[in-house]
Amino acid sequence: MAIPASIEDLRKLAHRRVPRAYFRYVDGGSYDEETLRGNQSDFQHVKLRQRVMVDISDRDTSTLILGEKAVLPLVLSTVAMTGLVRGNGEILACRAAQAAGIPYILSMVSICSIEDLAAAVQRPFWFQLYMVKDRGFVRALIERAIAAGCSALVLTVDLQILAQRHGDVKNGLSVPPRLTWRNVLNMAARPAWAARVLASRRWRFGNFAGHMAGMEDVSSLSDLIAKHFDPSLSWDDVSWIRSIWPGKLVIKGILDAEDARKAVATGVDAIVVSNHGGRQLDGAASSISKLASIADAVGHQTEIMFDGGIRTGKDVVRSLALGAQCCLIGRAYMFGLGANGQAGVARAIEILRRELDVTMALTGVTRISQINRSVAEVSHGAHFT
Ligand code: GLV
Repeated sequence: MAIPASIEDLRKLAHRRVPRAYFRYVDGGSYDEETLRGNQSDFQHVKLRQRVMVDISDRDTSTLILGEKAVLPLVLSTVAMTGLVRGNGEILACRAAQAAGIPYILSMVSICSIEDLAAAVQRPFWFQLYMVKDRGFVRALIERAIAAGCSALVLTVDLQILAQRHGDVKNGLSVPPRLTWRNVLNMAARPAWAARVLASRRWRFGNFAGHMAGMEDVSSLSDLIAKHFDPSLSWDDVSWIRSIWPGKLVIKGILDAEDARKAVATGVDAIVVSNHGGRQLDGAASSISKLASIADAVGHQTEIMFDGGIRTGKDVVRSLALGAQCCLIGRAYMFGLGANGQAGVARAIEILRRELDVTMALTGVTRISQINRSVAEVSHGAHFT
């Protein structure tokens, strides 16, 4: 097998190795996937400036993320059900992130629980939270994250109700996998996947099982969201979380400068400019097209993180040029995970690292802190606000 040279190569491998329902869950977006496509294609409107005759012999991709040193301006982002894309997927991805010297965010709707992940890795990871109606469960979960030594809490605010992803409906996406003939045949055609998931003995929502009442009849992410997520979530809830969580707090899912100002007013440590990877409001602007306006509005008051459509190191440079301090990646590493477990995630990170390094060199910068608006320009006529 040829060595995967790009994230797209890893995607193709993952497509072959992961059953349809879970591959499509990662790969797809909501409704017509307009925003999903825009997230990737709008990067082309950010043109990098080729610079020459600068001494680029000593380059360094390290930076600070939430005050901690990171080897790259990258974070492996929260992805629900990672452990069904590859058995023990959360553990494998977290180990790859920690070996590469970057943070990993465990999803609240992971397959592996916070406690099991903490026992399996060497260093602290971040934990992601959705607000559910049962506030007692939320409080207990935050306390579990504190006990597990999590170093940051990421509150996702753009998914209190779920936008439909057509593929998930058609494929009967569920946890554990629904044993329809179609799914069984599809899984049986991927015996290595099935063997790993069976051996992991993890195929439920690990943070919920045995911890929240009303989970008995929950068999899918969409059920869980519809029955338990709290659509009344508002800015007032952030101070309640603050009263329980003593560490760094990040709000993920901001796509509007007005919301960014409100987030900053709550005193959060960072925001993530995001449209949930084109998986929620279809028809929303691409993340990259909103980044500069949000950075202009609040970049001097808070740390700006960015996600949406990153598949290359040049996309990382473009995001940093428009005001992000670091980028979160989801699909890019999940394709590596589906393709080849921990080694596949490591490969995805290495692909991005090399591209980042080369792009920095060819734009004439040698430090992450030097990447600013002077490195890129938005094409004339592009709708970036
Ligand atoms: C959950 O976060 C999802 O995007 O499916």
